[in-house]
Amino acid sequence: DTNKFQAIISHCKEYGFIFPSSEIYDGLQAVYDYGQMGSELKKNIKDYWWKSMTQLHDNIVGIDAAIFMHPTTWKASGHVDGFNDPMIDNKDSKKRYRVDHLIEAFAEELKSAGKEDEAAALISDMEKMDAAGDLAGLKKLIEDNKIKCAVSGTANWTDIRQFNLMFSTEFGSTVSADDEDNKVYLRPETAQGIFVNFLNVQKTGRMKIPFGIAQIGKAFRNEIVARQFVFRMREFEQMEMQFFIRPGTQQEWYEYWKNERLKWHLSLGNPSEEYRFHDHVKLAFYADAACDIEYNFPIGFKELEGIHSRTNYDLTQHEKYSKKKLQYFDNDVDPETGKPYGNYVPYVIETSIGLDRMFLSVISAAYTDEDLSTPEKPDSRVVLKLPAKLAPIKLAIFPLVKKDGLPEIAKKIMQDCKQEFKCFYEEKDAIGKRYRRMDAVGTPFCITVDHQTKEDNTVTIRHRDSMEQERVSIEVIKQLVLDATR
Ligand code: GAP
Repeated sequence: DTNKFQAIISHCKEYGFIFPSSEIYDGLQAVYDYGQMGSELKKNIKDYWWKSMTQLHDNIVGIDAAIFMHPTTWKASGHVDGFNDPMIDNKDSKKRYRVDHLIEAFAEELKSAGKEDEAAALISDMEKMDAAGDLAGLKKLIEDNKIKCAVSGTANWTDIRQFNLMFSTEFGSTVSADDEDNKVYLRPETAQGIFVNFLNVQKTGRMKIPFGIAQIGKAFRNEIVARQFVFRMREFEQMEMQFFIRPGTQQEWYEYWKNERLKWHLSLGNPSEEYRFHDHVKLAFYADAACDIEYNFPIGFKELEGIHSRTNYDLTQHEKYSKKKLQYFDNDVDPETGKPYGNYVPYVIETSIGLDRMFLSVISAAYTDEDLSTPEKPDSRVVLKLPAKLAPIKLAIFPLVKKDGLPEIAKKIMQDCKQEFKCFYEEKDAIGKRYRRMDAVGTPFCITVDHQTKEDNTVTIRHRDSMEQERVSIEVIKQLVLDATR
């Protein structure tokens, strides 16, 4: 539903959730800034993930590694040689395309023309050729495609080339920009900061396998076709967790984490039909099993989170390149041999979710355009039905009028509550308008102080989703909001 997608993008801008980066200069492609509401929502999503990982699991701890890492990290991880996307240029339009995106666009056109089977065959061919690294085959697929003109004009294609997605820069006062020794990369994933710190954390934290290390942080990728709002960005944030396990147990832990992560998503209250697993046909160079959790975005089912069984690939590679041992001594007894398991390089199950994509899924699920028309008069509202614990503002406090001592009472409630959660005070405009503005940013509760308050110490509390109002005593407000937003 592209209309809904466009409406969400406009809404995000209008209400201070997301702005294009450096907008006064017409923006920067696929880079975005989070505004006053967006940064709160994003922080609440981060906290929810962080708590579920590092507080609710006794055996997972967090770290915060630097974005810059020693350049050899990315040789060892395989990113220098292998983190490529095949791309192709249209010689006439001078436009550059990621091959998979181009073919997906063809498939979409076939689908809209009612040719579902052809579309499915095209995607399946592409996945097979992509997995086999068959660039000539992929090019033929593009050239043979009957609908190519609709997508990109009279197509006159270059050969397909591999394009590395890492950004690089130079360190210090460099000799020359292409001097390999001075070249540092902006990390394309946070995971490597965890791998290189595996022994530091294990030793200083006296961690016993199985255990996990979690991290939230920025990652950078020079995406070729970067559109679709915050779904695919050049600068984004990841929330990743590496779970270190005994070799041979990867199958059971892979299943465990698939299940655990789906449960986390469902705990936010969306219907389960909105999520599905997608097993990878083409495994990344480090994985022995991998799947995505896909969410039904307004642009269709798309990857939200990846769960990967990364074997001991990364740690082994870092051992090789750093010439340092990255092993664990397991003194648990193996029932088969009667002896301790001893030294080994642990296997790893990874869960990796894009924070910005999570943000998009949360706001897409919450965005509701409601018709409130009555026979007497037409009416509607846009409301963000956000999970209360994620809402940027938990409580809005309004004096009905700007006089008679009502603002003073309202400000006193504000003073009392703001230590506990984010509150918002407003005295301008009609009360109905103030409610609607809070609906648009997803505030679960609004209270109104009126003349009756002065007599019996009660206020009106209005619930966002039902729009129902009830009278409650001022004394119970703080606890009521705390209970509902925890
Ligand atoms: N460490 C493994 C890893 O990075 P990935 O599948 O490449 O795996 C993990 O990325 C997650 O990061 C994705 O599921 C997605 O949510 C998010 N992500 C990846 N590229 C992104 C981009 N360009 N913009 C926004 N999010 C992105």
